Amino acid sequence: MDCVDFIDYRQWLTLQSKLVWYQPSRLAQGRVSCTNNYDVICYFTKGKAKTFNLNDIRVPQLVELEHRLRCERVPSVRNGKYGKTVFHPDGKNPGDVWGDIKQLTYKSKELVSREMLNTIQKPERLMERLIKANSNPGDLVFDPFCGAGTVPVVCVRLDRRFVACEINSDYCRIAEERMAKAAIGGESSENLFGFSTAGKDGKPAASQACLV
Ligand SMILES: C[S@@+](CC[C@H](N)C(=O)[O-])C[C@H]1O[C@@H](n2cnc3c(N)ncnc32)[C@H](O)[C@@H]1O
Repeated sequence: MDCVDFIDYRQWLTLQSKLVWYQPSRLAQGRVSCTNNYDVICYFTKGKAKTFNLNDIRVPQLVELEHRLRCERVPSVRNGKYGKTVFHPDGKNPGDVWGDIKQLTYKSKELVSREMLNTIQKPERLMERLIKANSNPGDLVFDPFCGAGTVPVVCVRLDRRFVACEINSDYCRIAEERMAKAAIGGESSENLFGFSTAGKDGKPAASQACLV
């Protein structure tokens, strides 16, 4: 979503994160310039952000022992005293360049069709990290370009409410089918696509989607 640089969204939305999803294994077929091997993911909130669930998205430190020892002998910025850097036992903040989530391949179970590979469908893990970090169960997530419905599917699974838009009616149908499956697998769901499934406890659905 590089076009975000050209849209003045500030009166409506607050840009919370501009993440780079780095895919080192993307095929490097460029001949006239460096091949693009990242996507930009923008996450906005309406008003000030209220949630950041760091503990739900920590990733392994992955630092070499030597580097770790070097970090442990640095003077404090505050008082100049040498102290021990404490590494969180559950891992670190993933930062804003995510290179640890692999792109889908044509063998991925979640891939809905070969046509969706690379250009459209994103891994559920990718959206899961974003949604877990920035929302709590019951919160409302909006995806204006939902493609094959990855964000709605993850929202159903994680018990978030959602509103999603997609211009391509074929993709809407695919998203609808995926959401129905996700709802059967766990949470209940009902939405403006017109399907409805009840959860195990028979309670009414929490999610909704819309077409533009
Ligand atoms: C990169 S895909 C989104 C993929 C999605 N995250 C997934 O995992 O399936 C972007 C989608 O935006 C849709 N799109 C483009 N312009 C749109 C518009 N004006 N309104 C709604 N959807 C639009 C495209 O059809 C495409 O499916």
